Amino acid sequence: MLNLKIYAQRRRQLMRMMGEDAIAILPAAPLQIRNRDVEQPFRQDSDFYYLSGFPEPEAVIVLAPGRRQGKFILFCRDRDPKMETWHGRRYGPEGAIELFGADEAHAIDKLDDVLPGLMGQCESVYYTIGLNPEFDKHVMSCVNDLRRQSRGGKHAPYEFVSLDYLLHDMRLFKSRDELRLMRKAAKISVQAHIRAMQHCQPGQVEYELEAEILHEFHRNGAGWAYPSIVGSGANSCILHYTENNQPMQDGDLVLIDAGAEYDGYAADITRTFPVNGEYSEAQKEIYELVLAAQEAAIAKAVPGNHWNDPHNAAVRVLTKGMVELGLLKGHTSKLIKEQAYAKYYMHRTGHWLGMDVHDVGDYKVDDNWRLLEKGMTMTVEPGLYIPHGSRGAKRWWDIGVRIEDDIVITKDGNELLTKGLPRTTAEVEAVMAG
Ligand code: GLY
Ligand code: MN
Ligand code: MN
Repeated sequence: MLNLKIYAQRRRQLMRMMGEDAIAILPAAPLQIRNRDVEQPFRQDSDFYYLSGFPEPEAVIVLAPGRRQGKFILFCRDRDPKMETWHGRRYGPEGAIELFGADEAHAIDKLDDVLPGLMGQCESVYYTIGLNPEFDKHVMSCVNDLRRQSRGGKHAPYEFVSLDYLLHDMRLFKSRDELRLMRKAAKISVQAHIRAMQHCQPGQVEYELEAEILHEFHRNGAGWAYPSIVGSGANSCILHYTENNQPMQDGDLVLIDAGAEYDGYAADITRTFPVNGEYSEAQKEIYELVLAAQEAAIAKAVPGNHWNDPHNAAVRVLTKGMVELGLLKGHTSKLIKEQAYAKYYMHRTGHWLGMDVHDVGDYKVDDNWRLLEKGMTMTVEPGLYIPHGSRGAKRWWDIGVRIEDDIVITKDGNELLTKGLPRTTAEVEAVMAG
């Protein structure tokens, strides 16, 4: 958790933009059943956590900038010795005030009594409908209550506005404190990938490398930001492969896409390395092309360029390289225009990165690609995937290569968050041999 002042500052900034005639309502992430009476591990909703640092389920934040007697209202579970003995500690409304800086706190089961009073005094409600259908019902029943009481002088809000526009624009720009956490998530992930490279042996099963990755995440107080992908041989060509249950063959590549989440912030890294520690010539040809594309893309990720410039740079290098190798036939510019590269490069070169691995924030503004600015964090992850049976490409069958790193845009360039992880074939081979 960050310093309390940081959450307070974020709430103030959001409330300034909302104006005094509005309130915002944010529910905590819902609890999810995994099977029968076993729940999925709880992970707080990113927006909720961003504004409060409050880690519990069954909680609701209300921000009411126009209210004199308390603008930050937190609803949460009451203390309950019996429940806490069985299921773990709770902060309770007292803790919400003392430790999380709430101006006012109530038991969550009082929500339906208190919410109409808060909502009845405002014109707009910032609430993102549809994400949490269960909670939508509370909000709607509250609106209907107010409508029924209109002859008593109450009124229902005139409009519902999605919070995304204001809040997600704030989240897109990372502060110094957030970058500290993102560097930490990146560092843990770098160590995990190095560990996987060092432990890899032909004959192991993919899940053994997944275990090495998770070992490094957990021993550093982190979890995973998304389920790890460990795909060897033909599986390296399946973008979202997560079975991770095949033996790894001598002579094959293995692609690992794995990133840690540390105090709510994600890293997202991919490396592709030879199971036996040495890239074959054919593997090197593809790997080095992807690496050149990544370098070209990173060079374009600078302030003043727009979101799509790095992608365009990667596509150009990959397409030109594929023509040179004989994977594509024709003129580079025409092949780019026709998107012929998509046969082997079918995803984009990156995405925003932050509390969510595919983080929030618009990629376009008024239909134009967004300009890159200081504090934006993103991945740069070109790849090439040549599945078995690809015509005229037998030499490269079952070679899937992705190289993914994380960067933050700085005042005059970018900073690599995922430093220290071998990237060239020589660097990877040296770590595997060590
Ligand atoms: N790990 C998901 C992605 O690379 O976008
Ligand atoms: Mn990614
Ligand atoms: Mn990834």
